[in-house]
Amino acid sequence: MDFLSGLAIVLISIVTIVYGYFKYSFGYWKSRNIPHEEPSFPYGNIKGFGTTIHSSLCIKRIYDKFKPTGAIFCGAYFFARPVAIILNLNFLKNILVKDFANFNERGFFYNEEDDPISAHLFAMDGDKWKELRAKLTPTFTSGKMKFMFPTVVEVGKRFKDCLIDVVKENDELEIKELLARFTTDVIGTCAFGIECNSLKDPNAEFRKYGREVFGKPRHSPLAGVFLGGFKGTARKLHIKNIRDDVSEFFMKVVRDTVDYREKNNVNRNDFMDILIKLKNQKGNDKDKITLNEIAAQAFVFFLAGFETSSTTLTFCLYELAMNAEIQVKARQVIQEAYEKHGKFIYEMMLDMPYVDQVLQETLRKYPPLANLNRYTKNTYKVPGTDDVIEKGTPIIIPALSIQRDPEYYPDAEKFDPDRFNSEAVKQRDAMTWLPFGEGPRNCIGLRFGMMQARIGLVTILNNFEVSFGPKSTVPLVIDAKSAFLSPEGGVYLKFKPIQS
Ligand code: HEM
Repeated sequence: MDFLSGLAIVLISIVTIVYGYFKYSFGYWKSRNIPHEEPSFPYGNIKGFGTTIHSSLCIKRIYDKFKPTGAIFCGAYFFARPVAIILNLNFLKNILVKDFANFNERGFFYNEEDDPISAHLFAMDGDKWKELRAKLTPTFTSGKMKFMFPTVVEVGKRFKDCLIDVVKENDELEIKELLARFTTDVIGTCAFGIECNSLKDPNAEFRKYGREVFGKPRHSPLAGVFLGGFKGTARKLHIKNIRDDVSEFFMKVVRDTVDYREKNNVNRNDFMDILIKLKNQKGNDKDKITLNEIAAQAFVFFLAGFETSSTTLTFCLYELAMNAEIQVKARQVIQEAYEKHGKFIYEMMLDMPYVDQVLQETLRKYPPLANLNRYTKNTYKVPGTDDVIEKGTPIIIPALSIQRDPEYYPDAEKFDPDRFNSEAVKQRDAMTWLPFGEGPRNCIGLRFGMMQARIGLVTILNNFEVSFGPKSTVPLVIDAKSAFLSPEGGVYLKFKPIQS
């Protein structure tokens, strides 16, 4: 047999085995009599990542098909992996809150030994997660937010100056990248105590790595599925999750920052300060955190903190350009608050409920994490049915689908901040608004995320009128390649300075 014939046989065998494996896996939900859609090779039912449709929109299609049948959950496939999509709000509450102990993991891969920066709060499992979450929770109290508020407002002022400069050159701006530079500088200052300078320099290192960590991940989505499914094996094989250059950059920044602060006794009331105090506190080792753990947490605060808030603001400005009367009302509320408080202080931020409603409605229509993930630790009997969800099954909570469900939000495509006045909120099940997740594993940075989004929005609306221009894409298109919900190709808007 010549080399080419041998190679052909090997290739055909591999394709046959892979195809056979997919065929076998694709029978999973059918054999259990669970409502599901026929999957197709190789994506299953949930595309996204490099295809033409974002995964959350595939999931919405499945949700819209099966929820009216009254099913509590339905099955789908992410590549060959069976996943359960939750359709019922009471069942959702069981998973996120009541039976949390059985669903307290996301099932993502991390490798503390070989890749310490990957062992952060978002990925971690088990008791380690529980202990770390308890240690980090005091970092995000309202008291801590009040301390950090002036620092974020300072970055807001630099953002305003940057916008004024850019608008002088061209009044139609691509706002998504500018907002990412703003939130990168905010989070860099608060998580690392470092002036990242990305507002001044679009190619500053923090912005560069922020862009690359999502844009050029270490593994392909298919490899990600393998790693999530075979975490133990992957760790034994010393597989890492974060790219070496990214990891080295953040490790060095944290090492240098901790070193400098400890030597010079620097106190800045930011996340890094709190993390250093946890490292150095008296008591047993269990209560402390290591330098590697500091680096991993600062890293996740950075990742979770800049993209989510900047895309929220991007979508928000798009909707405000579309709905001019809502923009005018929000600006009026901001101007009245300035008149009442004199300057932008913490109390003023809390005195603009309509601005919060605008952001809450944005997060309803465009939750940056469009789905929440949980992992079934032990086989779970679905209440009120004979069905079970087997140990090891990934759970998808379709936040975007629920938040765009007309049963909960009539005329769901309409942007209407009045849905979030206090009366309307009281009428709705809390499980219908999930942009920050829910239960003990919800977003730990919720207060900080809202704070920086409010400061960004107040800065823009108080200084500029925002409208569509010739380059604006209406309606906007969701980027299929992005893990977050993000507009494809950015968002172009016209900025007209307001004379004060
Ligand atoms: C608008 C801004 C933000 C949004 C929409 C958002 C959304 C989310 C969501 C949906 C989750 C998963 C919740 C769940 O599974 O139930 C999450 C988790 C998390 N977020 Fe945020 N986030 C935002 C800002 C931030 C900020 C500013 C930080 C840090 C400074 C942060 C840090 C985290 C961390 C560490 C977790 C993992 C928590 C855990 O597993 O215990 N987030 N976020």
